Amino acid sequence: MPVANPHPKPHTSLASLFTKPSTLIAILILALAILTKLTTPLATSRLGVLLNHLTPPPITTTTTSTMTTIYARELEVALLAVQRASLLTRRVFLDSAKGTVSKDDASPVTVGDFGAQALILAALRNHFPHDAVVAEEEAVALRNDEKLRERIWGLVKETRLGDVGAEGLLGKELVDVEEMMDVIDLGGSAGGRRGRVWTLDPIDGTKGFLRGGQYAVALALLEDGEVKVGVLGCPNLPVDDAAPLTADVGDGEGRGVLFSAVVGEGATSRPLGTDKLAEGKKIAMKAVEDLASASFCESVEAGHSNQSESAQIAQKLGITRPSVRMDSQAKYGSIARGAGDIYLRLPTSKTYQEKIWDHAAGDLIVREAGGQVTDTKGQRLDFGVGRTLATNSGVVAAPAGIHAQVLAAVQEVLKLK
Ligand SMILES: *[C@@H]1O[C@H](CO)[C@@H](O)[C@H](O)[C@H]1NC(C)=O
Repeated sequence: MPVANPHPKPHTSLASLFTKPSTLIAILILALAILTKLTTPLATSRLGVLLNHLTPPPITTTTTSTMTTIYARELEVALLAVQRASLLTRRVFLDSAKGTVSKDDASPVTVGDFGAQALILAALRNHFPHDAVVAEEEAVALRNDEKLRERIWGLVKETRLGDVGAEGLLGKELVDVEEMMDVIDLGGSAGGRRGRVWTLDPIDGTKGFLRGGQYAVALALLEDGEVKVGVLGCPNLPVDDAAPLTADVGDGEGRGVLFSAVVGEGATSRPLGTDKLAEGKKIAMKAVEDLASASFCESVEAGHSNQSESAQIAQKLGITRPSVRMDSQAKYGSIARGAGDIYLRLPTSKTYQEKIWDHAAGDLIVREAGGQVTDTKGQRLDFGVGRTLATNSGVVAAPAGIHAQVLAAVQEVLKLK
């Protein structure tokens, strides 16, 4: 990413103070902090906040309640970018003529996929040009298909956030189709244990998307391999956090939700809007008192998770309700707000490695909502080993209070013990 970062991040700005021309201002602030006798960590965060205000152009919306952390800008940019990308995908979803191209792995790729990736990576480039990105798509299929790229470019240009200019907060607009393709190709990072890495799945659950089911726009920020910020746009889930967990997508009325979480600050849901961010509400997993009444969800695709084993696990736990099958990280969002309780993903192949962009946002949102997320071996998902979860096998997500019990049943059925 070529441009110098115009917005030093609060948690790194201290280190770079004395190499910047703003040294004088920094010294003034330092003196101010000492004068007000603040404790060291408080002083650091106050300094960060003050420095942020000196750095134009700050994001000044007051629509979210979690604007007090060092990840405030990351959260707001991610929410707005995912919201805008979700609007693009929804438009494509509702458009009967879906343009698709095939890819090496034969998974369906839609114009929505490329368009969403272009919008989100443009926003990340504008605000965090030094961050790495691990994203699912690359533009090679577009470079050989003028009709497809022109269609996508049309959508990207036309998908704006409302009329009060919320999209202006995302920074410079893409100028032409060439720039769009260059931006799409910014997602080729190898990931890893060091530094800031965004993970993006522009349309998670492409099969659900094509089938008219659930899908999600999934964006997360990793720092040194740990998920710090996670955002999921789920255009086909009910807005209402209390709506029962069902696989159907209804007629589009009352649908569309944005889930988000910042590490240590809980998880939030808000309606997917068309302009500035709607007010967020804290969400929490349901406390499961009686496992027999718990509900669990799993993939629609039998190739993604072994459904006969999950039925055996449910039986072992005394769960009587049939599983709810839905595509994408909408499952993580659904259990995080208590619409469902348990999410199982049971490996169907010894060699398949889960992609980090398919789990990073959901993992943090569930954990911040009071859940625990491990693989079938009981290990935390490790997002720091590259583009895949190479050291993990499957996913077991459940409220913290029953996770051990669920994991034990999983391991018994999978004969891991
Ligand atoms: C699911 O697991 C059972 C063993 O419990 C196995 O026989 C079957 O082949 C598995 N199915 C898939 C799709 O992996």
